[in-house]
Amino acid sequence: MCGIVGYVGPKSTVDVLLGGLKRLEYRGYDSAGVSVIDTEGKLATRKRAGKLAILVEDIDNQPLGEAHIGIGHTRWATHGAPTDGNAHPHLGGDSKKLSLIHNGIIENFAELKSELLEAGVSFASETDTEVAAHLIAREFDKTGDLIESFRKVVRRLHGAFTILVMHQDVPDLVLAARRNAPLVIGLGEGENFLGSDVAAFVEHTKRAIAVGQDEIVILRQNDVAIENFDGESVTRDEFLIDWDASAASKGGWSSFMAKEIADQPQSVGDTMMGRLSSDGTVHLEELAALTQKLPKLDRIIMVACGTAAYAAEVGKYAIESWARVPVSVELSHEFRYRDPILTSSTLVVAVSQSGETMDTLMATRYAKESGAMVLTICNTQGATLAREADAVLYTHAGPEVAVASTKAFTAQIVSMYLLALHLAKARNTRALSDLQEIGKELLKLPAQIAKVLEQGKSVAELAKSFKDAKTVLFLGRHVGFPIAMEGALKLKELAYIHSEGFAAGELKHGPIALIEKGQPVIVVVPSPNDPDSLNAKVISNIQEVKARGAEVIAIAEEGDLEAAKYSAQVFYVPKAHQMLLPVLSVVPLQIFALELSAAKGLDVDQPRNLAKSVTVE
Ligand code: M6R
Repeated sequence: MCGIVGYVGPKSTVDVLLGGLKRLEYRGYDSAGVSVIDTEGKLATRKRAGKLAILVEDIDNQPLGEAHIGIGHTRWATHGAPTDGNAHPHLGGDSKKLSLIHNGIIENFAELKSELLEAGVSFASETDTEVAAHLIAREFDKTGDLIESFRKVVRRLHGAFTILVMHQDVPDLVLAARRNAPLVIGLGEGENFLGSDVAAFVEHTKRAIAVGQDEIVILRQNDVAIENFDGESVTRDEFLIDWDASAASKGGWSSFMAKEIADQPQSVGDTMMGRLSSDGTVHLEELAALTQKLPKLDRIIMVACGTAAYAAEVGKYAIESWARVPVSVELSHEFRYRDPILTSSTLVVAVSQSGETMDTLMATRYAKESGAMVLTICNTQGATLAREADAVLYTHAGPEVAVASTKAFTAQIVSMYLLALHLAKARNTRALSDLQEIGKELLKLPAQIAKVLEQGKSVAELAKSFKDAKTVLFLGRHVGFPIAMEGALKLKELAYIHSEGFAAGELKHGPIALIEKGQPVIVVVPSPNDPDSLNAKVISNIQEVKARGAEVIAIAEEGDLEAAKYSAQVFYVPKAHQMLLPVLSVVPLQIFALELSAAKGLDVDQPRNLAKSVTVE
């Protein structure tokens, strides 16, 4: 989950590397470092524990020399604490002329380290990474062929890695290898880039190539070659990055998360654009490869983690109800270990903002090997999950930088609705006119989200008053249940407050014992117009917890006066189709967590211990 950048070209390399790392900092932020080969041919490395700003200040105080080739890294620690010594790059060989950065985990590092220790190599860090640096340097010392030495060593590594290497004695070359961790090439005019994702270089070029599994990149200023681990040449298609560097900047907002919450009318609109016509008809050309199979599906299994799994839970309600196909949602890391039953008529849907979450990637590989079809719903062009799927439905949320997922979540839910409508059409389970009516309701969502955002200030005021809360409970029912869990997750990760989301119907089976005087309970109330009168049941739940001293905050639909009667405070969302309410009711919960985190003086965009993209299992 670390961020990696590499550059060869005429620009100031330190600036290119630090700019790239700034954009990749969401991937890990416990230490950072760069290596360059300066114009005098000397390898220079600087690395510091802590956020990137500490490294930048260090380099400002004591600049590195002018250079036109270099590599940079921002770390999320796995092996070894976040210290200066464990920060990347790591140097290899007695002469320390080789510099290496790594994202992932080298699973057989202990065995390789013993071998090196026996050979008398001494280590400067506690990382798994350093073994690779020494192994390559030692091979190079024997043969003088950096590319062959690199190939030979990466073939010996097990686990997940993107590795970038430079050597002072080969000063025109950056080598990269990729297995189970992301790597993208940026193609410039007289310059070339490497990055964990396109954010690393999007301000310099829009032309990119996604590197495949077990591939090596040989990067020079005017030449890029890709080969497999056996040295055979590989051809990969270029793609154009469809967002602008400014989309990944704060643009005057106090945090990326604040901006991304506010982006939601746009991101939800963009996700529907070209897929839903004004008469409510859905067209998902992207699913053409699955067309023949959709009417005959035996079941759908969604695999995802964290927030993406809650989006999948919402999708389950819509797909089962509209398309009448059984859906289960599985946490990716549990899925393949329980020997699931998969057939060629099973559709596995991987849901992931980054498209690089290792747990989800492993789950989908397992599904494919077992003969199932795989559809990926993903926000990142060219991501591994997208490349390995039979079909991809991109969420067009734009770059999501804050670690806490917001606009990707609502875009994922909207993609689920589109998928559900498409499936219902393909399976002929609902009248087309009904589906079009839902489609038209979907088209209203961007304007409705904008209305919810208008209440941001009152939600912020409320959040501040919860600054000292020790625990907050969330209740929801039907599609409101995953939203309750998402509200609780947001609060945990951003404000470090213990919080739990419960199905409101479950309250009486245990959780109600937690209620005591003053306990904050946030309730996502179903529409009062729902045909199954779940609204009345949840209003009863509100009364039950209120009677036991809870302080209730309700997220309810406009006009729900009953919700107001028993709650200390209500935030209203516009009237919408009951299945679509999650896209609206989650917004106050996102703002609540953001403002509570800010009120506690915490880092909203980069909460402790987390990283945006979890590329280790
Ligand atoms: O990139 P993905 O959508 O696969 O990430 C999945 C989770 O790691 C992610 O949603 C995580 O739970 C977020 N930090 C939630 O805000």
